[in-house]
Amino acid sequence: MKNIVVLVSGGGTNLQALIDAEKSGLINNGKITCVVSSNPEAYALKRASDNGISTDIIRRKDFKTFEEYDEKLTALLISKNADLIVLAGFMTILGKKVISAFKNRIINIHPALIPSFCGEGFYGLKVHEKALEKGVKLTGATAHFVNEICDGGPIIIQKAVEIKNGDTPEVLQKRVMEEAEWKILPKAVSLFCEDKIKIIGNKTEILE
Ligand code: GRF
Repeated sequence: MKNIVVLVSGGGTNLQALIDAEKSGLINNGKITCVVSSNPEAYALKRASDNGISTDIIRRKDFKTFEEYDEKLTALLISKNADLIVLAGFMTILGKKVISAFKNRIINIHPALIPSFCGEGFYGLKVHEKALEKGVKLTGATAHFVNEICDGGPIIIQKAVEIKNGDTPEVLQKRVMEEAEWKILPKAVSLFCEDKIKIIGNKTEILE
């Protein structure tokens, strides 16, 4: 059984999708044991406590330097015995220390088809604004491992979502979440927990 720690900052709908997947048996070789938030007000914390999951808060602004923050977050995650860390709408960039301590054991969900609309500055509604601005007809979501390059780690699963006439960034964000993020993130976590993701260089192969 893999020990899953989920990092959040906001509403936590992706966390909810993971909790639901665990309950329904879609994730059956892993257990969410802790939710760590960068924001004490995050609604995601309520979702965790409603489901009997322990919580912790770690804020970048409580540390003088980024290095101290990186060190503290790494120590916290090690103390939780995390086998897998899931970034489910976590809005703080991870440091070198935590990324190397959990190499190929951190999964992120990005609301676009990488390598489109990703990298620094592409977060939240911005991603969808840029997709609409460009006029692409398809966007989607990507579940990927985290490495030192922002949104650059091995891709695990992608799912396309159609863009419709009259879409606003908000409408598109909701469709991408419903049709893609809430499906592929639990699936990627389940594959990881079943040891079905083989990493070859910067690519993955799914063993099914
Ligand atoms: C999602 O769009 C996710 O892709 C992005 O942040 C949002 C998080 O939403 N990185 P929630 O907190 O899971 O509801």
